[in-house]
Amino acid sequence: MKILVINGPNLNMLGIREPGIYGKNTFADLLRLLEETALAEGLEVEQYQSNHEGDLVDKIQWAYGKVDGIVINPAAYTHTSVAILDALKAVSIPAVEVHISDVDSREPFRQISYAGMACVKTIKGQGLDGYRQAILYLKEHYGKDTV
Ligand code: DQA
Repeated sequence: MKILVINGPNLNMLGIREPGIYGKNTFADLLRLLEETALAEGLEVEQYQSNHEGDLVDKIQWAYGKVDGIVINPAAYTHTSVAILDALKAVSIPAVEVHISDVDSREPFRQISYAGMACVKTIKGQGLDGYRQAILYLKEHYGKDTV
């Protein structure tokens, strides 16, 4: 099974940006967590990060026919991007939305998620472990026996 993990803007600044909200773990720590999860679960996990909305749309389109599941943290584009929502709908690949912070307990503008409308599940407020939980969910619900 192949899973694509997509991270949106400013997530490359993890560990530096607002550690009181997003924690002290760095983006490199997240990449390590993804590699370890892939190894432990016998999955192929590819990671993509961009600060640009169109690049995220391009990557979702690229995934069509190539991956079995998507884990996506669209970051700020969560709350604004109909283009990312439409791309997820277009490829129709099972997708799990992840937010490191508990967006529900933050500013009102973070309460809406466009991308989430095309996702089978949302995991929020679990820190970096949310990514691992999302991968496990996709494996459990959409996994095949072979990589
Ligand atoms: C975030 C929450 C978003 O509201 C914010 O814009 C981010 C990160 C999260 O992982 O908690 O950049 O998606």
